[in-house]
Amino acid sequence: MGLIGPITLRVRDGAEVTLASATEADAPDVLAFRNLLSTTADFIATAPGEVDPDVELQKKQIREFREKPGGLLALARYEGIVVGAMSMNVPVKRRLAHAVEFGMGMSPAWRGRGLGTLFMERMVAWARENPAILKVTLGVIPDNAHALRLYTKFGFVEEARQKRQFRDDRGNLLDHVMMGLWVGDQPG
Ligand SMILES: CC(C)(COP(=O)(O)OP(=O)(O)OC[C@H]1O[C@@H](n2cnc3c(N)ncnc32)[C@H](O)[C@@H]1OP(=O)(O)O)[C@@H](O)C(=O)NCCC(=O)NCCS
Repeated sequence: MGLIGPITLRVRDGAEVTLASATEADAPDVLAFRNLLSTTADFIATAPGEVDPDVELQKKQIREFREKPGGLLALARYEGIVVGAMSMNVPVKRRLAHAVEFGMGMSPAWRGRGLGTLFMERMVAWARENPAILKVTLGVIPDNAHALRLYTKFGFVEEARQKRQFRDDRGNLLDHVMMGLWVGDQPG
């Protein structure tokens, strides 16, 4: 089961957010937040206009996050507004399903306030306790310096680099780095 919270997280300046697994009722907010990220984050794959607006599809995806062992979609809200989200995406294929892909994003006003660090702490602890997960993977554009530093601080290591895999909206071709963190009981 992919469930977390609700728990209170306090960021550096003392503001408190509530972190909880998304439910189907959150689908419209999740879509709105994904749209916000697509228009405010340069180093994520989803570009403006690329979020599928189908609410029923979003509900189905939320159900899958909740039901799959190792899956997770959690939202942080401040005064009811979604300010951050993180996901653990389980590969469909059984032979790949122990290596779960992490992703996260904050709304612009909440970046650099410590929420990403709190998400990472929660996510790593949650993954270590989850027997379905042996490894957490993620992809990052190294130009996304804050994200790269954050992942490295939590023990993620570069495992592969896809050269010029990402083209930003100005046409620059950037590398895509795949990182991994072993969280299984046995050494990786
Ligand atoms: C990347 C992201 C998720 C990090 O979350 P966050 O809440 O900003 O993370 P934190 O506030 O915990 O900061 C993480 C580190 O980056 C630094 N940082 C973040 N934003 C910063 C800024 N604007 N200026 C200076 N430092 C900054 C922090 O100081 C911290 O480093 P430290 O631990 O060495 O002090 C967030 O910035 C974001 O949503 N970016 C857009 C979407 C995105 O790129 N997602 C990740 C795709 S791989």
